[in-house]
Amino acid sequence: MTSIAIIGCGFVADLYMRSLEQFQDLSIDYVYDHNPARLATFCDYWKLKPAQTLDSLLTALEPESILLNLTNPSAHFEINQACLLAGHHVYSEKPLAMDMAQANALLGLAKERGLMLASAPCSVLSETAQTLAKAVRDDVVGTPRLIYAELDDGFIPQAPYRDWKSESGAPWPFEDEFRTGCTLEHAGYYLSWLIGIFGPVDRVVAASAALIPDKEIDTDTPDFSVAVLFFKSGVVARLTCSIVAPHDHQIRVIGDKGVLAVKKAWDNAAPVRFHRRFRIRRRLIDHPIGKKVRLKGPRPSKVKRRGAASMNFALGLAEMMAALREGRDCRMSADFALHINEVTLAIQNARATEGVQKMQTSCEVLKPMTWAR
Ligand SMILES: NC(=O)c1ccc[n+]([C@@H]2O[C@H](COP(=O)([O-])OP(=O)(O)OC[C@H]3O[C@@H](n4cnc5c(N)ncnc54)[C@H](O)[C@@H]3O)[C@@H](O)[C@H]2O)c1
Repeated sequence: MTSIAIIGCGFVADLYMRSLEQFQDLSIDYVYDHNPARLATFCDYWKLKPAQTLDSLLTALEPESILLNLTNPSAHFEINQACLLAGHHVYSEKPLAMDMAQANALLGLAKERGLMLASAPCSVLSETAQTLAKAVRDDVVGTPRLIYAELDDGFIPQAPYRDWKSESGAPWPFEDEFRTGCTLEHAGYYLSWLIGIFGPVDRVVAASAALIPDKEIDTDTPDFSVAVLFFKSGVVARLTCSIVAPHDHQIRVIGDKGVLAVKKAWDNAAPVRFHRRFRIRRRLIDHPIGKKVRLKGPRPSKVKRRGAASMNFALGLAEMMAALREGRDCRMSADFALHINEVTLAIQNARATEGVQKMQTSCEVLKPMTWAR
């Protein structure tokens, strides 16, 4: 049995614990957080074994255990590196690292040691994303020409976020969220879908801005970004992230036969609908009522909505564990994580770089789940 441990037991760790309930064969062996009070509360709530230091955690585990890095983004590189150096596989919350030199170093380390390295988000393995991917593969929409993907969360700086608490009582880390910025926090949700479906991005043309620099904490981290992604396969996507514009989590794949649309991309079981395009006399219409696209056969069970999303945060971990047990590559590969990291950083930092950014990394299209072939 491969052991699993959590490092960082704040807001998102509770969401992982609830998600893990859906997998009988996955359980957490140890937990570590450098905040002793938080560690105690979390372990008490979930009845888990605490480790008192990072070193004691890393050495208590059998070699090649899986470490879930759920710390804040600024700690991701340091923790991911320590886990790989200690000989463990790593599933990291996003972003993999805050710059590409660090991200490349992690990939090098993982490859050199023959360890798995993957990064959240994992919603690309959800029923909704897999259904969308299959619909594209099955030519439901015809040749895809353009994707519009929106991740606008509403005017968050005015939200009562000080009252947002996780199940075991961790406050929503607004300072860290504002400092990291919604692009680094959220672009990966769509990038994993888009790159998973359409393959690697060739060029990014983006702009980003801090529209509300005087939030509760002063930060000039972008709270808005818009990017045009030119994929090597020829498809083009527009991706918007903000914590300013009204809530909109819609993704639309526009093709020669019509439009494939998902209204709630943060719902793992949100319907995928196909809006057929047709002509009536002199008018061209995308059918206002979309036909639901369904997968045949068994699908992962639905997850209850908690906070902002109905997502199973453990799908990526389950995939990594299945890959280890079956002796195969993990669908969510290190190359996939690295490429998503590169594109995300290109969008986040667009304000500073401006113009066209040519991507240096690449990866394969994501293999569909067996139940979605
Ligand atoms: N908050 C959300 O809704 C949400 C959703 C999805 C993903 N995420 C991602 O999850 C990660 C964590 O976010 P969060 O909201 O749980 O943050 P958080 O601040 O609530 O929790 C992070 C925890 O990590 C601990 N930590 C930080 N550095 C550490 C270190 N070096 N060693 C040990 N422990 C350390 C902190 O003490 C804290 O308890 C981020 O990458 C974020 O992008 C968050």
